[in-house]
Amino acid sequence: TTQLVHTRKELRAARDALSGRVAVVMTMGALHPGHAQLIAQARQDADSVVVTIFLNPLQFAAGEDLSRYPRTLESDLAICREQGVDLVFAPTPDVMYPDGEPGIRVSAGALGAVLEGSSRPGHFDGVLTVVAKLFHLVRPDLAYFGQKDAQQLLLIRRMATDLDFPIEVIAVPTVREDDDLAMSSRNVYLTSTDREAALSLSRALRAGEAQAVRGPAAIRRAARDVLVGEPLAQVDYLVLVDPVRLEEVPEWYHGVAILAVAAKVGTTRLIDNLPITVG
Ligand code: PAJ
Repeated sequence: TTQLVHTRKELRAARDALSGRVAVVMTMGALHPGHAQLIAQARQDADSVVVTIFLNPLQFAAGEDLSRYPRTLESDLAICREQGVDLVFAPTPDVMYPDGEPGIRVSAGALGAVLEGSSRPGHFDGVLTVVAKLFHLVRPDLAYFGQKDAQQLLLIRRMATDLDFPIEVIAVPTVREDDDLAMSSRNVYLTSTDREAALSLSRALRAGEAQAVRGPAAIRRAARDVLVGEPLAQVDYLVLVDPVRLEEVPEWYHGVAILAVAAKVGTTRLIDNLPITVG
């Protein structure tokens, strides 16, 4: 059975009672099949699975969607039970931040300032701070994160290495709808017109992917052409970057690169990416 806890004290007791290798899946709730896939992978690999559900205010800037972010704890718990989760930790903000917003934070550094970080200043410091705290509180052996948030995944890997967390970070491929839209808790904001326009993101990535052997310029051009054809998608960035430094790859590049896009569709900011073997 799935145990639900809200406080640090309850978490400590329940965590200490878990046996074997412990995996964690961290979420902000509004669980969908993408989250379920992370949990299923964790369930396969580990002896015990902990899911955290915490809508972290620290990673939202003023004017972002914190206030309208979907809150669906009951159906989230149903998904956790279905997936055989052992323990759910769902703290309130005052449990996580008893003294209010912390002055001390984990700094994402230069890698946190590009792409998503350039449009959302401070976002990744807020993400890494809560992830570090949850690592300490849950004490997992394994931690599962989605490729959907490629920059977040890279930064969490780097943090685990650079700050010596004894935790193995495992990437899970992006789960998509039947029409290829990347699953996201934010997709519920999309009107049916938005939803149609949102498909231009994955279509652009697939068009780029189809040019993989022709090299970076052809990949970028093909992806760009799709996005230009969708006036309802306001593109924030479309880049083909190396997976370590997140820098635009040169024309002579061979190997895995990440084709990543961010765009606003209606009132909703969407991101998607595909790892592509270039050349
Ligand atoms: P959230 O957006 O709820 O996502 C939780 C985890 O699910 C992340 O690792 C994310 O990459 C993964 N995920 C989301 N959509 C996915 C999809 N379509 N396919 C595969 N994985 C998917 O990411 C966060 O929460 C927060 O920043 C968090 C790490 C919990 C820190 O607050």
